[in-house]
Amino acid sequence: MMNLKDEILKELFDNLNNVKEFEDLEKVKIKFLGKKGIIKNLMEKIKQIEDIEEKKKYGELINLIKEEVEVNLEKFEKEFVKKLKEKKILEEEIDETLPGYPFNFGKRHILRQVEDEIVEIFLRMGFHISEGPEIENEYYNFEALNIPKFHPSRDMWDTFYLHNGLLLRTHTSPVQIRTMEKIKPPLRIISPGRCFRRDPFDASHSPIFHQIEGLMIDKNISLTDLMGIIDLFAKKIFGEKTETKFYISYFPFVEPGLEVAATCSLCKGKGCNVCKYTGYVEILGAGMVHPDVLKNVDIDPEIWQGFAFGLGVERVAMIKYGISDIRYFYENDIRFLNQF
Ligand code: PHE
Repeated sequence: MMNLKDEILKELFDNLNNVKEFEDLEKVKIKFLGKKGIIKNLMEKIKQIEDIEEKKKYGELINLIKEEVEVNLEKFEKEFVKKLKEKKILEEEIDETLPGYPFNFGKRHILRQVEDEIVEIFLRMGFHISEGPEIENEYYNFEALNIPKFHPSRDMWDTFYLHNGLLLRTHTSPVQIRTMEKIKPPLRIISPGRCFRRDPFDASHSPIFHQIEGLMIDKNISLTDLMGIIDLFAKKIFGEKTETKFYISYFPFVEPGLEVAATCSLCKGKGCNVCKYTGYVEILGAGMVHPDVLKNVDIDPEIWQGFAFGLGVERVAMIKYGISDIRYFYENDIRFLNQF
């Protein structure tokens, strides 16, 4: 009878030796311990034995076999699971000698690159950065800049109005006011930032665009200081041979108001379709700060004077790189952006 135990255990080990997958193990478990399994089967036989002593002996033996089968199965399962895990780890092991995946470094957007370049030029001339909010009120966007409520010049800066009396700023000029309220002259600031206008979205307009404002207030500042600084800026951004032209224009917050044109950097002044065959392209608006604007911020125009200018980052980028449509900047087409 002792042979029965050895026999069954031998069968168990033979079966376990063939276990490769977890499912195989499950099958072995069912085969031995299942409802219709080997052990159950042996237990059924107890009933058939009539001799009490023998019945008892047989019963004990079956219990022993059952116990050993269970213990061995449990032991096997533990080790089997451990091996499976180790195998999985081995398979997933990182081979440090393999070449890495190509990694795409991002780059700064062309508008940000141009903005940085412009800001850098002015920082080197002693200007500081001063920023203001994109959501403004009418006072800073218009009134303080000498653009009264029903003045027709407001149309040039029509914007998106929010319901609480606020609006999206149409230019970076409100930062002039905000800065002069806080900092007493002499001062020299530039203010890069996003602006908004009720404009169509076409080749040369965008309802969202970027400007850089400049403001310098000091004693004995004259138009020639403005001209010198802008001319230097134009040479730095478009090339040393660039020349500038200044002509009278109108902005309510400056007097006199100027518009500045620079030699077309694409055709070097020879004439092309970017400069409409004039050899010059308009680069910014500027002027001497209007005395009323200074008075609005409690600065005495008899003592202090200054100039201001505002340039469009998109415009500078378009001229510098010969980009014909402003919409390219915002489409985020990688083929366009990767050129810069
Ligand atoms: N704020 C003006 C504009 O957006 C530009 C400008 C700034 C003109 C400063 C003169 C002085 O059109």
